[in-house]
Amino acid sequence: MPGFADRMSKLGVEGAFIVLARAKELERQGKKIIHCEIGQPDFDTPAHIKEAAKKALDEGFTGYTPSAGIMELREAIAEYVSKTRGIDVTPDQVVVTVGAKIGIFSALMAFVNPGEEVIIPMPAYPSYESVTEFVGGVVKPVVLKEEREFSPSGEEIAKAVTDRTKVIVINTPSNPTGGVYKRKDLEAIVEVAKEHDLWIISDEIYEDIIFDGKKHESILSIPGAEERAVMLSGFSKTYAMTGWRLGYVVAPKEVADKITKIQLNTVSCPVSFVQKAGIAALKGPRDEIEAMVREYEERRDLLYREINRIPGFSMIKPAATFYAFPNVKELGVKSKELANMLLEEAGVALLPGTDFGAPGEGYLRLSFATSKENLMEAMERIRAFVEEKFPNVS
Ligand SMILES: Cc1ncc(COP(=O)(O)O)c(C=O)c1O
Repeated sequence: MPGFADRMSKLGVEGAFIVLARAKELERQGKKIIHCEIGQPDFDTPAHIKEAAKKALDEGFTGYTPSAGIMELREAIAEYVSKTRGIDVTPDQVVVTVGAKIGIFSALMAFVNPGEEVIIPMPAYPSYESVTEFVGGVVKPVVLKEEREFSPSGEEIAKAVTDRTKVIVINTPSNPTGGVYKRKDLEAIVEVAKEHDLWIISDEIYEDIIFDGKKHESILSIPGAEERAVMLSGFSKTYAMTGWRLGYVVAPKEVADKITKIQLNTVSCPVSFVQKAGIAALKGPRDEIEAMVREYEERRDLLYREINRIPGFSMIKPAATFYAFPNVKELGVKSKELANMLLEEAGVALLPGTDFGAPGEGYLRLSFATSKENLMEAMERIRAFVEEKFPNVS
């Protein structure tokens, strides 16, 4: 067989999909597995959003659209982002994408030359590291610390800058930590980026899943960020639309044009009728969305209480997202080994923190996008397992 391009060895895989495959295999063998590995809402897409897609199909809206998306949706996104960030975004700054993930890929493709460095606060969503390396860039991790509630330190980001640094990638609210970046830390990041003339890629896909009555802080609302930040978000998490593959990028117009060019050369355009569903999502009622967030918050409270009762486990309260990120260092085993044992022996599928980079050692990630009953059962199984295997840990 002829060889592959060298860059293929740089592309990683997502741990969640590997654990899911193993969990399914165990289920085929007759074992009952509790799924806490996948970051996918366990709710259905609200009916009015589905109706908009059905109507578009019935009306024959099935052809290609402009590469950057239909103007009506770009306008709706510009309006939404302007309102939620307190800034003035125009539709020509918006590119509709096929899921948010491709926005990360396109932005890194557009910015990073081989050998240039990308600063990533970690543990982080695996695609930032994987794609940076794929395009020939070099990852410079900055460790997110539990004692800072997983908000990055501006000082440490400044220290990571060299004359090869090109981009800082941030993610708030954050997968896997469930933390949100503090405003003063976002301000420090903008200062560093301005001083060293860097791009910022800001992944804000969890912007609506925030608890305790708090509001999302976006880097776009910090003066000076707008001219160097690419913000990406989407519909997968907020509107329970993972399978629809709809996201967007908001960037300075010159950057939006480059990302559109990548899109033109890859997917041509986002899916036509799905874009109509996006308009319905942004403009429609929000009561179902709010109910989902309330449910996630109740599950967060349940997990916070129960996890802290398990010997050797401790956790600060996740401020957002649907991820719990308990510290398991007291147990004295590697996260990966512990996650494997919990799957094979206790029937709970979850992820080691190291699936999100080396700084995730000593942590596990549990998704609470599953029912309270399942979560309670997962907690009971984990507790029984730990009490048996680690009798000396209190
Ligand atoms: C931080 C983060 N960014 C992006 C994505 C991808 O979102 P999408 O389904 O819209 O591609 C995910 C999905 O898990 C995520 O956790």
